[in-house]
Amino acid sequence: MAIYFAIFKLLLNKNKCVIIFRGRDFMNLPSLKDAKLRTKSEILIKENDYKVPEEMRKIGLGKKYYLKTYGCQMNVHDSENISAILEDMGFKYTDNLEDADLVILNTCAIRENAHNKMFGFLGRVKHLKESKPNIICGICGCMAQEENVVDAIKNKYDWVDIVFGTHNIHKLPFILETSLKQKSQEIEVYSKEGEVYENIPVKRDSKYKAWVNIMFGCDKFCTYCIVPYTRGKQRSRKKEYILDEVKELVSHGYKEVTLLGQNVNAYGKDLDTNYTMSDLLKDVALTGIERIRFVTSHPWDFDDKMIDVIAKYDNIMPYIHLPLQSGSNRILKLMGRRYTKEKYIELFNKLKEKIPNCSITTDIIVAFPGETEEDFNDTLDVVNTCKFDSAFTFIFSPREGTPAASMKDNLTIEEKNNRLYKLNELVNKYANINNQKYLGKTVKVLLEDYSEKKGNLMGYTDTMKLVNVKASDEYLGKIVDVEITDVKTWSLDGKIK
Ligand code: 5AD
Ligand code: SF4
Repeated sequence: MAIYFAIFKLLLNKNKCVIIFRGRDFMNLPSLKDAKLRTKSEILIKENDYKVPEEMRKIGLGKKYYLKTYGCQMNVHDSENISAILEDMGFKYTDNLEDADLVILNTCAIRENAHNKMFGFLGRVKHLKESKPNIICGICGCMAQEENVVDAIKNKYDWVDIVFGTHNIHKLPFILETSLKQKSQEIEVYSKEGEVYENIPVKRDSKYKAWVNIMFGCDKFCTYCIVPYTRGKQRSRKKEYILDEVKELVSHGYKEVTLLGQNVNAYGKDLDTNYTMSDLLKDVALTGIERIRFVTSHPWDFDDKMIDVIAKYDNIMPYIHLPLQSGSNRILKLMGRRYTKEKYIELFNKLKEKIPNCSITTDIIVAFPGETEEDFNDTLDVVNTCKFDSAFTFIFSPREGTPAASMKDNLTIEEKNNRLYKLNELVNKYANINNQKYLGKTVKVLLEDYSEKKGNLMGYTDTMKLVNVKASDEYLGKIVDVEITDVKTWSLDGKIK
């Protein structure tokens, strides 16, 4: 049994008193060791855990919050929850950092540059706090789940007021209140498998398209990836909650939902109900919502039933993001991806064959430890075979605590950059070739916002192509027929038909 010696170390900083205990459990600090654990314990569904007591509803009155989000769609959606919670506490949103009384950074841990960006921004907040000492600064998201990050915040960034993780967003009012009352740095991060919270409010960024979580966490443990440690065990939401949420969105006039999960194809496999992603997709399609998307798919769990459902229902968009990661079987094995390039290509061809007009995008990592020129050429070969609509490409970034972080890295930064450059050239070539096919065609676009191009609205085709459309405000939120008049590598231009 662990023995916890609480060694009090009173650090008196300016007007701050931080009590540090030896033993991470006392302070609810993140622990890599605990984050790795996967047990057979039942996943608890918590329907009433989010509460804001009356006295906490006044904390933010007359105050403004600024919320900066890094990383993936999951984080974007978490920020929609955080916004709603802060507004329940009386805060109002501002997009001007200088105007804010509360600044929250919702962070991403996936690569080193996400870390650097966050710490860079934190420098700006510190500067602001020097002239406005009452500003409250909070850090949450995946970086808050990392031991080394929280150690750094505790030791070097003692002016940061609150730190909370991905498992306890619903506790934000309490954490904030304690920090304000005690003028203390509050760190409340849990490294655990996790629960499913069903009553967290949401303030959606769009009136037309919505993110809907269908599952949390990931159990795939790809050797390079930090996500299973920062987001916990795979936990699927019960279908009733998901379908109710989609039906409510339909009744509020939403046109599109994106079903979210780290590995959506594995939906339901942790529920013991024999109800999997193909069943869920079908039921979501039957709600009548006009457009359904889903991210992210792992090639491993993509079964034929799912392909058939996508092909059958017109409101399931013919767009699939299917991360390849590498085209070398040797590297795929080292990555723990559990498929070969041949299997990937077989699935790719099946999707293209069975789902008419389907666009497929991917993620690729170059310079994984030990990647040889031959391995890299295998990746280029797969890109040449699949001719992806587009790809997100990355240089491998070692994440502390993951198996790949301790694998031997044999390349210079120059060689890594050269590989990325070469890959990007190829990816861009095929993105452009794929887009060229749209010239002169008429496609359906959901016009969701103003475009950066003056006098234009922007939206996406069924196949997830970004289109700038000359159109007035009255078309906002409508799915319209658009004739494509010009084509670029990353976007299309069009006019209403
Ligand atoms: N280094 C580089 N890229 C990574 N990704 C995940 N972890 C790492 C890492 N350590 C990429 C993968 C994943 C995408 C979201 O980020 O390609 O699919
Ligand atoms: Fe990370 Fe792999 Fe899980 Fe995706 S499937 S979140 S890459 S561990």
